[in-house]
Amino acid sequence: MTELSPASPDRIDAPAEDQSLFHIISPSQFTRPLLDEVCLLATEARTLAKSRHGARALQMLLADKRAMLYFSQPSTRTFLSFNNACHVLGIRTSEIRNASTSSEVKGETVEDSIRTFSSYVDVIIMRSWEQGLAMRAAEHMNRIPRPVPIVNAGSGKDHHPTQALLDIYTLDRSFSQRGGIDGKTIVLVGDLARGRTARSLAYLMKNYSDVHIVFVAPEEFAMADDIKQHLDAHDIRWSETRNLNDVLPSADAVYITRIQTEYDDADAPVQHDYSGYQIGLAEMKLLSENGIVMHPLPRGPELATEVDDDPRAMYWRQERNGMWMRVAALLKVFDVADQFRSIYADHNIG
Ligand code: NCD
Repeated sequence: MTELSPASPDRIDAPAEDQSLFHIISPSQFTRPLLDEVCLLATEARTLAKSRHGARALQMLLADKRAMLYFSQPSTRTFLSFNNACHVLGIRTSEIRNASTSSEVKGETVEDSIRTFSSYVDVIIMRSWEQGLAMRAAEHMNRIPRPVPIVNAGSGKDHHPTQALLDIYTLDRSFSQRGGIDGKTIVLVGDLARGRTARSLAYLMKNYSDVHIVFVAPEEFAMADDIKQHLDAHDIRWSETRNLNDVLPSADAVYITRIQTEYDDADAPVQHDYSGYQIGLAEMKLLSENGIVMHPLPRGPELATEVDDDPRAMYWRQERNGMWMRVAALLKVFDVADQFRSIYADHNIG
C-alpha cells in the first residue's frame, strides 16, 4: 500500500484550489465542485458497502489510522455517525465525551489537550460549547511540527459544517429528479440565531444558483446579519417572515429546527410562544406534494411525530445520510478519494 498523506493545512477557512481538505472547520471551505464531489463519494461509498466484498475493501482503506472523538458538548447523531463512519473506513477510535474526565479538570489548557491527542491519533473530531474553538485548535495544529487534521463537529452557536454537508446531500438526493438544489426555495424555521446547523446550511447556499432562502423565526431568534450579508454578497435571494403558513405552499424544502434552550440564561428563564414555528399535520396540508421536511434532530415540540409517516418527511433519511457524508469527508481529509474511486471502479458497480 502506498504511503498516505493528508492534504496540506493551508489557509484554514478558505477553499483549497485543488479541492483538497485538511481541517474541516467552516462551510467557507466548500466550493460547488467540492460539494458535488463529496455528495458523489457518499453515494458511491454507501453503494460499495452494500456488498460484503465492498465493505471489506472500504474497511482496509484507512485501517492504519486512528481518530480521537473529543466531544465536550452533548451529541448523539454526530458522535455516532462519525464513530461509525470511522469504522466503515477501518479507522480505530478513542473518545472523550466529557471534559470532566480529562486533564482539563487539572487545569490543562484545551491547546495542550489537543496537542496531546495529536500525539496518539491521525485526526481529531471535536465538538464544544465554545464558538471558534475548532478554529483555534486548527491554528494550534498548524503551528506544531506534527499537525493532524481537526474536524469541527459543532462549535457552539457558530457552525456545524459536516451537518451542513449532510443537509446538502439530503437536498441533492431529494431533488435529483427535479434539477438538483439550483432554483429551489428553502425555508429555514426556528431558532436561527443560535442554531448552528441552519447558519451553516444557509452559508452553503451561496454555491447554488437561483435559490431563494426564507427565514422564519421569532424576532429574538432571527438569522444573524453575518449570514444575511454573506448571502447578499453572493447575490443569493433571501427573505424573512414570521408567517410559516404563508410560505409553505411555495417551499421545496422546509428545514425546521428546535429552540436551543441550552443557551438560555439559566438565571433568567424566558417563556416564549413558539406555536407559529411548528410543523404538524395541519402544516403538512399546506406544503406542496413535492415539498420535503428536514430537521437536524433532536426534535422538540416543533415537529409532531405524526409527520414521520408522511413520505415528504426526510429527517430519518437525513440522519442516515450523515454517516455516509462523514465517510466522504474522511476520504477527503485523508486524501484517499482517488484510491477509493479505483476500488469502486474495480468492483464494477453501476
Ligand atoms: C444539532 C446540533 O448539535 O447543532 N444536532 C445535530 O448535530 N444533528 C442540532 C440541535 O442540537 O438542535
